[in-house]
Amino acid sequence: MILITGGAGFIGSNFIIDWLGAPGQDEALVNVDRLTYAGNLENLAGVEHDSRYRFVRLDICERDRILELLRAQRPRAIVHFAAESHVDRSILGPGEFVRTNIEGTFSLLQAAHGYWGELDAPSRATFRFVHVSTDEVYGSLGPTDAPFREASAYQPNSPYSASKAASDHLVRAWHHTYGFPAITTNCSNNYGPYQFPEKLIPLVIANAIAGKPLPVYGDGTNVRDWLYVGDHCAALRSVLRSGRPGQTYNIGGGVEMANIDVVRAVCRLLDELRPDPAGPHERLVSYVTDRPGHDWRYAIDARKIAGELRWTPAESFASGIARTARWYLEHQSWVERVLSGAYKDWIATNYGGR
Ligand code: NAD
Ligand code: TYD
Repeated sequence: MILITGGAGFIGSNFIIDWLGAPGQDEALVNVDRLTYAGNLENLAGVEHDSRYRFVRLDICERDRILELLRAQRPRAIVHFAAESHVDRSILGPGEFVRTNIEGTFSLLQAAHGYWGELDAPSRATFRFVHVSTDEVYGSLGPTDAPFREASAYQPNSPYSASKAASDHLVRAWHHTYGFPAITTNCSNNYGPYQFPEKLIPLVIANAIAGKPLPVYGDGTNVRDWLYVGDHCAALRSVLRSGRPGQTYNIGGGVEMANIDVVRAVCRLLDELRPDPAGPHERLVSYVTDRPGHDWRYAIDARKIAGELRWTPAESFASGIARTARWYLEHQSWVERVLSGAYKDWIATNYGGR
């Protein structure tokens, strides 16, 4: 079996659903999640009663309890998603990012390293620890800079990316020093079903459906490289299967788009799927004060994973965003439940003074 951390979040829940839904899948999966504001077990309602699935509510900072769980469950691999993941929250409250992303990854590494050391030689040889990280550790690109490669220098600019960079360094050191079979992936911006509507794409979809303003930071020219979440999950499965310990793999969609173009694409789709009698959704675009230290451009060079592991994205931006918009339209009650109490406070904190 395999053990996942952060499986109740956006990418983790997509990974679990895809894993258990794969034809002929007989390998079980344990999901360890602390259930922060971003963890939502409703995402996993469809697998809750699956005999191959088990949920354990646990903080990755609890090293001894994680070690106990590893000894009891005996996974052949760990895929580590758990993190604080939202840049704006990291700007307003960096402490949780240091705690979960740095201290939590450290605790998890210690527990996993201890467990790995107790395995018999064949199990030790095949064990894998996949650390799911971000392209934001490489900093910000100018308009003509080449996309990020695995060898690009780390230049994190936000408390979020700095905390993820620190966790990547710990993982690297555990491999280099102790021979711990860890692999790090650095992926670009994901979008798709179950993404919490604090991130750009689901926020814009939810606000557009509700006829609310669509907040675009600064002048909207910042560029991101977008990848459909199912493609990220497929890339992680190929890394788990054939990635080489000690290596890092960049994962990206090769879809560079300015934020305003992403927002306009979503508006056009909603104009088709759910026309608003008041007029085109684009009328709701509202330019607001920029994010402090806002990275200008991210772009991924994914040639290493394409060449070594034969992974390339299956979805284009057009097909992925259409699937995503349809999913949000069909799951409005999910959105409404997510948009309850605590989330309202976040909207007031982040957008109130902008
Ligand atoms: P998310 O915020 O949606 O989910 C994070 C999950 O981790 C939640 O279920 C939360 O409850 C859990 N968690 C947080 N702190 C925990 C702790 N101390 N112990 C146990 N569980 C805890 O995040 P996501 O967007 O699904 O991202 C998953 C991973 O992928 C993160 O490591 C993130 O840095 C990375 N990543 C995300 C993107 C993206 O575009 N979303 C892109 C590249 C990499
Ligand atoms: P986000 O989804 O927060 O991801 P990240 O900051 O990790 O790239 O933001 C994506 C881009 O969209 C980023 O350049 C910031 C911008 N953005 C807005 O313009 N308005 C918003 O309300 C949000 C949340 C993001």
